[in-house]
Amino acid sequence: MKSSAESMISGLQELGFVFTSTQQITEGEYLSSDVEWNYNDLPHLCEVHDLAERVEGVIAEDYAASILVQKVGPFELPMSLFNYAISRSENFYFTSFGPYVLLVQTKWTTKDQTTKVVTTYFLGSKKILKISHKLVHSLLAKNYRNLMKDDIPMRSRRGSLRFRGYTFTGDSSGNGFLELFNLAKCGVVAPTDLNSFTWECLISAVEQGTTLAGSNDNSGVRLQREDDLLTVFPRICMHAGASLDLAKIDGSCIKCPWHGRLIKPIFTVNLADDTKIYESKGLRVEVKNSMLFVSGLFNSE
Ligand code: FES
Ligand SMILES: [Fe+2]
Repeated sequence: MKSSAESMISGLQELGFVFTSTQQITEGEYLSSDVEWNYNDLPHLCEVHDLAERVEGVIAEDYAASILVQKVGPFELPMSLFNYAISRSENFYFTSFGPYVLLVQTKWTTKDQTTKVVTTYFLGSKKILKISHKLVHSLLAKNYRNLMKDDIPMRSRRGSLRFRGYTFTGDSSGNGFLELFNLAKCGVVAPTDLNSFTWECLISAVEQGTTLAGSNDNSGVRLQREDDLLTVFPRICMHAGASLDLAKIDGSCIKCPWHGRLIKPIFTVNLADDTKIYESKGLRVEVKNSMLFVSGLFNSE
């Protein structure tokens, strides 16, 4: 049995609780599956959001129970959180803190590639504290804005990949809480008609630091130069589609900003070599006559 917000509210009302509610709405060019993925993807929380940490208790495909440590100003507020999927287009979670209970219902619908997400916060307490609800709702709204500042770009990134023909494994099978803990999985499905790219540059003109070649997907690479050493990385993380263009370098790897996967270079190229060809994962790098040539289509297999 999975209770709805309405049935929990009526149970709590019988115990003398009173409720007020507020709504938050976002809309963007991505699909329902991207919103479902974003809501059920718990591992991104500690990597992407800066005001919350989470320690998992029980995780199953359609529910998750955990302790959330939420930063509120100078305080850190631990809360038990129970999330569950009502359907592929509705999530629900509930928690309590001090004298308050909070039930949060999120529903989404897609029309013409645009998805609208409506989140309703039901805040309950004994009547004497109803006067404080306005303040708590304003803190909830602030927290929502803070979460969306990081979540909307993730959904939009997947939406922009979809415009280029990409799909994701969870589109048909669903994006269950448990499955999304599998960080080794390759969840991105590249279109079969993606064009390979070619890029060339005088070696002396390749800047120190980052140079981006090709496009921000499998048809491009990120070049990282340090003196005459050039490391070549993909521009897309095949786990869930993050852009690696601005990802931080961590030792010899880059660290994916969404779930922290460490991604090794495809090649390490010595630009001081006279002539050399490197080939791997669908890509080719050639150093020849003071020129650098890069071409191909990144294939993570
Ligand atoms: S998208 Fe998940 S680790 Fe990169
Ligand atoms: Fe998030």
